[in-house]
Amino acid sequence: MKAPQAKVAHGSRGPVPQGGAELPELRAGQSVGLLKELHILTRDGRLNQDSRRKLKQVQHLFQFIEPLLQELSEDGHSPTLADHGAGKSYLGFILYDLYFKALGRGHIYGIETRADLVERSRALAERLGFGRMSFLNLSVAESAQAGELPDHIDVVTALHACDTATDDAIAFGLLKRARAMVLVPCCQAEVAACLRQGKALQLARTPLAELWRHPLHTRELGSQITNVLRCLYLEASGYQVTVTELVGWEHSMKNELIIARYTGHKKRAAAERLRAILEEFGLEQALGVRFGLQGSSAAPAAI
Ligand SMILES: C[S@@+](CC[C@H](N)C(=O)[O-])C[C@H]1O[C@@H](n2cnc3c(N)ncnc32)[C@H](O)[C@@H]1O
Repeated sequence: MKAPQAKVAHGSRGPVPQGGAELPELRAGQSVGLLKELHILTRDGRLNQDSRRKLKQVQHLFQFIEPLLQELSEDGHSPTLADHGAGKSYLGFILYDLYFKALGRGHIYGIETRADLVERSRALAERLGFGRMSFLNLSVAESAQAGELPDHIDVVTALHACDTATDDAIAFGLLKRARAMVLVPCCQAEVAACLRQGKALQLARTPLAELWRHPLHTRELGSQITNVLRCLYLEASGYQVTVTELVGWEHSMKNELIIARYTGHKKRAAAERLRAILEEFGLEQALGVRFGLQGSSAAPAAI
């Protein structure tokens, strides 16, 4: 089956919502009703500052995810997507509205620990007739073993999933043999805590410890190291990784976008670098298992 056409060309004017104000932020054919239900648009069809930022993030992300879905939909395949730490499921609903609805097949799973948000999303999907969406009240880690999810998931997304939920999403993606993972990590405290613990020792050992001597730098470097380790782990597991910005820095401080596409080429050099960085920063004990250097959980399933 032919891949669906993108609904709108870049730069095209958006629809005119109720009230007559033209909103260039909207894509042609995008449901104004859905955006009102998500409280992205006000009742009279306008955007406030916060919701404009949220919409911009999700629409921007859509530009990266749509081509992946188009590729996956070729030959009549029904693409599956799991969105981790879904929150109010802005991303899932907008993906469904802009892509899955017209495709007529495929399924989106929203994974979220907050029961109230899951209930709300279920009710909204029912009201909108978005029948191929499921919302599971589970943690990302639990969802890997959950019977409600299929053995294989094509695309894994995690947009600002808190702390180590991004790592759980990567583990989920490896287990489910995901063809692509689209990750926007949130704040991360774990590596910073490890760096803080060994600080005095490391300062005596190497001038590089100056990189995390000041508390603000400890936090920033902790985040940076975490994302670097995630990228190396993905490369060592057979993914090609691209790191870019979700939106301009003026919009969000947490806007690192990691896109991983499965190629099957497991980079040995990436695994070696990963090990060296863990050792250099004294993180092997805390993070070795997660990043596949000890135990068996690291070995990605053959895809
Ligand atoms: C910052 S919000 C982001 C929500 C949504 N992805 C977005 O960008 O609008 C993070 C969400 O992840 C959920 N969450 C945090 N840790 C989680 C975990 N381990 N498993 C599943 N959901 C989690 C929180 O309840 C929250 O709704």
